[in-house]
Amino acid sequence: MSKEDLINSLNEDLAAELGTVIRYNYQAGKSYGILGTELREMFKDEIKDELGHARFLTDVIIDLEGEPVTIPKDFDKPNALRNMLELDLKMEEEDVKNYLKHSKEAEELGHIELKMKLEEMAADEAGHARVLRRLLKGI
Ligand SMILES: [Fe+2]
Ligand SMILES: [Fe+2]
Repeated sequence: MSKEDLINSLNEDLAAELGTVIRYNYQAGKSYGILGTELREMFKDEIKDELGHARFLTDVIIDLEGEPVTIPKDFDKPNALRNMLELDLKMEEEDVKNYLKHSKEAEELGHIELKMKLEEMAADEAGHARVLRRLLKGI
């Protein structure tokens, strides 16, 4: 594990965060009806969290003398609300796994603040996954 490997891992996370901001903004626009009203509120709240994650990752990558990515990770665009939320749940769960994996990489290189911050971000994503599971129960 080198500093470059860690920068690559963090750039993967950053592309995922940028993709999530765009995905949630897109999905909010596609949310209609009574359920849509609740979804729009949820997306609005979570966009703030994801943007905060993206900002943090950008700063850390620059501190490590890397070049932060500016191209978001691509995503599927299902039309039905249920499929949309299932996709989001899958991607939030993937983010949890990646942050936990990358926190170990940060620890290996002695970046303790980064390790703990990435664990905290894993917990944020696990919280987002929990909200999505609750919403999916009601559909
Ligand atoms: Fe995030
Ligand atoms: Fe999230």
